[in-house]
Amino acid sequence: MGFTMSLNLLLLVAMVATNILSLYHLSSTIQTSGKPPTPPPVPDRLLHQLNTIRATINRLTRLQPTANPATKPTAASATLPPDLLLYSLLSPIATSCHNHPDLLRRYMNYTPFSLCPQDSDGVAESLILRGCHPLPRRRCFSQTPPKPTSSLSHNPFSPSLPDQNVVWDKYTCKSFNCLVRSYPNLGFDLSAEATRSMIYRDDLDLQIPQLLQIAKAANSVLRLGLDIGGGTGTFAARMKLYNVTVVTTTMNLGAPYNEAVALRGLVPLHVPLQQRFPVFDGVVDLVRCGHAVNRWIPLTALEFMLYDVDRVLRGGGYLWLDHFFSKGVDLDKLYAPLIGKLGYKKVKWATGIKANSKNGDVYLTALLQKPVSK
Ligand SMILES: *[C@@H]1O[C@H](CO)[C@@H](O)[C@H](O)[C@H]1NC(C)=O
Repeated sequence: MGFTMSLNLLLLVAMVATNILSLYHLSSTIQTSGKPPTPPPVPDRLLHQLNTIRATINRLTRLQPTANPATKPTAASATLPPDLLLYSLLSPIATSCHNHPDLLRRYMNYTPFSLCPQDSDGVAESLILRGCHPLPRRRCFSQTPPKPTSSLSHNPFSPSLPDQNVVWDKYTCKSFNCLVRSYPNLGFDLSAEATRSMIYRDDLDLQIPQLLQIAKAANSVLRLGLDIGGGTGTFAARMKLYNVTVVTTTMNLGAPYNEAVALRGLVPLHVPLQQRFPVFDGVVDLVRCGHAVNRWIPLTALEFMLYDVDRVLRGGGYLWLDHFFSKGVDLDKLYAPLIGKLGYKKVKWATGIKANSKNGDVYLTALLQKPVSK
């Protein structure tokens, strides 16, 4: 008991020390990329976190009458991993729900043991996107569509998805047809999706039969995959037809993506991009990063993401960056070196100008193979 306590104390003191150190450190090192130097302001939530930690320490100190001198935290302050603070800054651990009390209060404002309120303004999605993930559990019954169809297709490319299986309240569109008509490129037009990654237009395209061929020739079996930011699940859909099981991470930003994936008979994972993948180390054969993974993700967050991809991939598995876009100069100076750090074999590396881009963006499509052993 006493030991656990002093260990906790040690950790907390060390964390505060590193927090303060790293604030200085971060402001000087984070922008080394030749961009205009705009020192990042210290976010309120970090200060808030610091205060919470200080308060906890004070409380613990009061509870701790005689700290063992052998476990004094002097050495620990020096050895606490700086990545802990860095990651807390990108995606605060456990505290981010409390950093959005109004949203959290709205989310948890319900009558226990009855029907959950309609999430018409997407409070759940907003919390998750702000790093509050997993959301707290609630003891209420989630809203279900009143008259769902019981005949669900096993065909992941069925010509249409049943509208009556979705609760549409929070979306402007009230049917899949509306989504197809109003936003033809969101992936809800399943007849258009049927050709995705199957036809060759230019070198940026990697056709799925070609991918399977490459893996086969390298004696690397593809059975399990993860599609990051996979929209309506078209990659998983196509791979299912080749007997490869792919799970798709997808958010419901403005449209029922998770429901669409599920109605196609595929597994949707409702996790944001900054979330540690809920998959164990070294278990998947293939990870695909689609359009959602691009230069909009802050560099350091992207770095943590790529290392998490590496974590879930088995040795000999493949990482497919499918049409990653960024500015050309950043691709050379930032992203290519970042990807290079993984030490993967470049099976394919194709770049090209992104059509209609005002910012001079380029695309990268890369197929990379994780080495069998480090
Ligand atoms: C997928 O598995 C089924 C059932 O085992 C088999 O009939 C089918 O040929 C397989 N498809 C491919 C593309 O391997």
